[in-house]
Amino acid sequence: MNSPEPPFSAKVERCFSLGASTYQRSASLQAAVATRLAGLARPLASHLPPGPRADLGAGSGLLARAIEAELGGPSLLRLDACGSLMEQEQPPEHGLQRLWNLNQGLPEELKGAGLLASSFALQWLEKPEQKLHHWCEALRPGGALLLAVPCRSSFRIWHQAADAAGVPCTALPLPDALELQERAAGALQLHQSQLLRFSRPNQGARAFLHQIKAIGAQASPAARQQPGALRRLIHHWPGPEHAIVWEVLVLVGQKR
Ligand SMILES: C[S@@+](CC[C@H](N)C(=O)[O-])C[C@H]1O[C@@H](n2cnc3c(N)ncnc32)[C@H](O)[C@@H]1O
Repeated sequence: MNSPEPPFSAKVERCFSLGASTYQRSASLQAAVATRLAGLARPLASHLPPGPRADLGAGSGLLARAIEAELGGPSLLRLDACGSLMEQEQPPEHGLQRLWNLNQGLPEELKGAGLLASSFALQWLEKPEQKLHHWCEALRPGGALLLAVPCRSSFRIWHQAADAAGVPCTALPLPDALELQERAAGALQLHQSQLLRFSRPNQGARAFLHQIKAIGAQASPAARQQPGALRRLIHHWPGPEHAIVWEVLVLVGQKR
């Protein structure tokens, strides 16, 4: 008898563990977005209430460090389900790291948080819109949410190539930017709400899938690919005149 499929969150954790040693040198987009998000939050530095601060899905701590450098104030607790990726943080921040599955909500101590931040992590969670709602609820009045998340309009060429090849697309289904914006606007005074577009050169399907794997982001809820599917995908992948586009929603807001 076949053993049952592991839950999707276990596959996600396993993939990020496998990519942990190459994450820091491969995650250039994530590093750029972390710097940008922290910069957008800078005007809030002297307007934040007390209360715990955390980076949700912190990985190797790119966003936590950028926020600590831009805003000063207390250090951020780093929560993540992947211990191997947290171990990549340099210099190590063991005392601030907590192995935590965000699908089970937030730890009690983050109720009444002064700042919750998250970059490139919400899309991996079950029901991202609900998680965002709970994160907003956990903030104390005046507490800040800093969020970056890739959204549904990303990777059009991947979806188009899979359609043309007649194979299932193994891209992670991404949340809808408008729905997330509306959720956040219901609970927060939004200071920034932008859909940023990042274009990357398209060097073919193999190179693209290799980049995704280098940051451990290859987990997919799609069924296992049939033999020959990759060959067909590669055959139908558009040429270099079609860039690979990430659309990243960036939100900065304060709880009303
Ligand atoms: C692409 S990485 C982003 C890491 C970091 N925020 C950054 O910008 O570099 C996604 C992170 O989300 C974490 N993650 C995914 N699912 C999670 C879950 N259920 N609970 C906690 N962390 C999770 C992964 O382990 C990984 O560290």
